[in-house]
Amino acid sequence: MRSEMSKYEANEEKELRPHSYDGILEFDKRLPNWWLFTLYATVIFSVGYWAYYHWTGHMEDGWVRVKSELEAVRLAALSQGAPPDDQQLWNFSRDAKIVSAGEKTFRATCAACHGENLQGGIGPNLTDGQWIHGGRPMDLFHTVVNGVAEKGMPTWGPVLGQQRIAEVVAFIISKNPTMEKPPGGGDVVQ
Ligand code: HEC
Repeated sequence: MRSEMSKYEANEEKELRPHSYDGILEFDKRLPNWWLFTLYATVIFSVGYWAYYHWTGHMEDGWVRVKSELEAVRLAALSQGAPPDDQQLWNFSRDAKIVSAGEKTFRATCAACHGENLQGGIGPNLTDGQWIHGGRPMDLFHTVVNGVAEKGMPTWGPVLGQQRIAEVVAFIISKNPTMEKPPGGGDVVQ
């Protein structure tokens, strides 16, 4: 009781804030140091955080990484038998890792007939925008999977599997300036 009394008296010496809410008054007390330091620390941290993300470009890297990881998941789904679609193959063609994997397959298995630069040879040119079997990403995919036996294009489905064929088609799309982005292509989450 005594200590409560002295507390009250001590507060009495402090100034009251000028406002009153329903008769409730407030002492004008200094904010505690731990509270102020936390506030200052968060302000300083926010400046550093902002600068780090907007000036160093790390945020973009994060985004590119997420995109690339999502494509990798989709690519792995292909090896489990999930069929791709136009948008997916287009997105793969914008992914440097997938394209370079496709390029390796192309050099090893396709370049002998279609040329090192896809310019054609025994097989047709794959960059001129003229397609015998259709120019949508999935048309290319089906042609490569099934081949065109009577014309000398081997059936690659059982040899390479869906994943490697998707990679090689992504490589062809990336090298083909006439190929147009399909509706929905380029979106990471579909
Ligand atoms: C032995 C030669 C040969 C090899 C190897 C070969 N192709 Fe072909 N490819 C052809 C021929 C020939 C055609 C044309 C088929 C036709 O006229 O119908 C063709 C057609 C195609 C087409 C369709 C072109 C169009 O205009 O519609 C694509 C796409 C294609 N090849 C991709 C590939 C890929 C990818 C590989 C490697 C995995 C590959 N080819 C390996 C000979 C080959």
